[in-house]
Amino acid sequence: MTDIIYAAERIAQLRKEIEHHSHLYYIEAKPELSDYEFDKLLEQLMALEQQFPDLVTPDSPSQRVGGAITKEFVSVTHREPMLSLSNTYSLGEVEEFYNRVKKLLALEGVNEQSMVAELKFDGVAISLLYRNGFLVRGATRGDGIQGDDITPNIRTIPTIPLKIIDGGEIEVRGEVFMRKEDFEQLNESRPEEERFANPRNATAGSLKLQDSAEVARRRMSFVAYYLQGISEEYLPHLKRLERLEELGFFTGKQYRLCRELHDINEFIAKWSEKRWKLPYETDGVVLKLNAVTQWEKLGATAKSPRWAIAYKYPAQQAPTVLRDVIFQVGRLGTITPVAELEPVHLAGSTVSRSTLHNFDEIERLGIMIHDRVIIEKSGEVIPKVISVVLEERPSDAVPVVVPSHCPECGTPLERAESEVSYYCPNEGECPAQIRGRLLHFSSRNAMDIKSLGKALVDQLVAIKLVKDAGDLYFLQEPQLEHLERMGRKSAQNLVRALEESRTKSYERLLYALGIRHVGRATARELSRAYPSIDALIKASEEQLSTVPDIGPVVAHSICDFFAKPSAQHLLEKLRDGGVQLSASESTVQVNRNFEGMTVLFTGALERYDRQQASELVMGRGGRVVNSVSKKTSLVVAGHEPGSKLDKALKFGVRVVSESEFEEML
Ligand code: IVH
Repeated sequence: MTDIIYAAERIAQLRKEIEHHSHLYYIEAKPELSDYEFDKLLEQLMALEQQFPDLVTPDSPSQRVGGAITKEFVSVTHREPMLSLSNTYSLGEVEEFYNRVKKLLALEGVNEQSMVAELKFDGVAISLLYRNGFLVRGATRGDGIQGDDITPNIRTIPTIPLKIIDGGEIEVRGEVFMRKEDFEQLNESRPEEERFANPRNATAGSLKLQDSAEVARRRMSFVAYYLQGISEEYLPHLKRLERLEELGFFTGKQYRLCRELHDINEFIAKWSEKRWKLPYETDGVVLKLNAVTQWEKLGATAKSPRWAIAYKYPAQQAPTVLRDVIFQVGRLGTITPVAELEPVHLAGSTVSRSTLHNFDEIERLGIMIHDRVIIEKSGEVIPKVISVVLEERPSDAVPVVVPSHCPECGTPLERAESEVSYYCPNEGECPAQIRGRLLHFSSRNAMDIKSLGKALVDQLVAIKLVKDAGDLYFLQEPQLEHLERMGRKSAQNLVRALEESRTKSYERLLYALGIRHVGRATARELSRAYPSIDALIKASEEQLSTVPDIGPVVAHSICDFFAKPSAQHLLEKLRDGGVQLSASESTVQVNRNFEGMTVLFTGALERYDRQQASELVMGRGGRVVNSVSKKTSLVVAGHEPGSKLDKALKFGVRVVSESEFEEML
């Protein structure tokens, strides 16, 4: 009894501390704890809650790590329709809007009007519902009347309070978005062909994921811009934004009260450049009447309120000159044409390079060297060449020639039939590929070796001190000291960083190996199903295909990778160098009760979904299959099993119920 009382007190104290530091970190951007210290607090809380599950509450910060799997999102009706805004790209139309509102209000006998100008965040609109202070629902806009209930995913977003100090039924609307840095990190962790084009797409895709633990890893943010249901029915909008902040929401704080049209124009002009310096993407300015009493007077059309408008900044474009096209060789040998541009100022930075993606893109643009081109920055973080000014083609324009040989190592290039890209087949020796693999190995989603940057990798490869990641673990300080821009201290730092990286998680290592199509998420699934590299190497393509998320293409790529002598050498060196090649104790499953067994699930289980059940089997050494044969070791039959059960019985395969299965676990 005293234990639980003590635990309850400690839990309350930890939650308060975590919430406080979370607010400092995410909302105020003034952290007082290191990430490590913060994680330790969260770990303590989770350990206590695990010990005393009755003390878990829905508003506990532990609930943000996700875990719930939603099979299908339920449709819910909004308290009031979620309208959109009328959009304009023209300052003239903003003026018309301002004058129209003035006239309409004058008809109602109102002669004072002030507007709140806010930044328009580029994300996905969401409605949050709080009852008696607790977050009870998070929903997408959907068709404006009904949206999807995505509460488990919403709970994972750190800037969304799980509890607020205000009773009754409160609705908060705003935009879920991804900070540029979080977006880049997410994209870095994904195989190239699965990368998102911009933070908005990444956000939209992530909010719809069924696995909320994966949503939690995606690091999304929320900005609040609308509050309803408070007791002061007519609290002006500006005050509502301030109230949202008091309740713990992030608003961005870049709003301003505008009494004259002049103030609005000033706000728009000020942010047209300044917005590029923000850590997230904004695409315009939203103007809202400040007096909520006036909202009612003006009303709304079917689509949008008459008391607000969104001004969108025009896409940022600039003309420049294509000086040259160079060809970069990636870590997988792919040749990417890159435009070298006359430096030009665009969207808050100077642009002198831009990817042309592949040779089809060059053909599509019809681009020639020395052409005048237009570059654009819209939703994407990196600007791109969008067109050629053909009328201004100079007489010395030169066609872009597809190289026949690798610009790095001179090997003749090849092109796979189904692919748009050329590649250098000299995997083992091409210095560009070696450098690319090393940089991938040390990148932040992989082994995160900060002191091993591009300049150092260039040198290590150039003087042939390092040929693969395995060589890194045999580097000695004296070899490094005399390299350019190194010295004693830097050499020591690198050796220490490498030492630390030896114990990085097995999951990170799997990703760091740079297997084609294997991003962080796939590496995680692999590390669960095969908790050691030795087990993974032995897995067949067919076996790998049963791992969640892994299809035949990825399975093939994994087997292909491990079959190569170069991979075997690399793994030997990593092993000799002391790198961790299996999951640590805490992540390894408790037993190997399903070692060597093939298991088939049929019908619906009550306590697990298919994926969870499969993971439990695989984590214990078993394999999950989709069809029954005489060789199948076990069939787990849930509710309404299919014809597979009949087959199993016919073959005399052992059949168990869900509870028997649980016992076996
Ligand atoms: S107000 C009735 N404020 O942009 C109130 N919307 O193009 C409707 N958006 O539908 C929304 N930043 O998804 C509002 N500061 C802001 C906004 C904002 C981004 C989004 C929102 C809206 C769309 C209109």
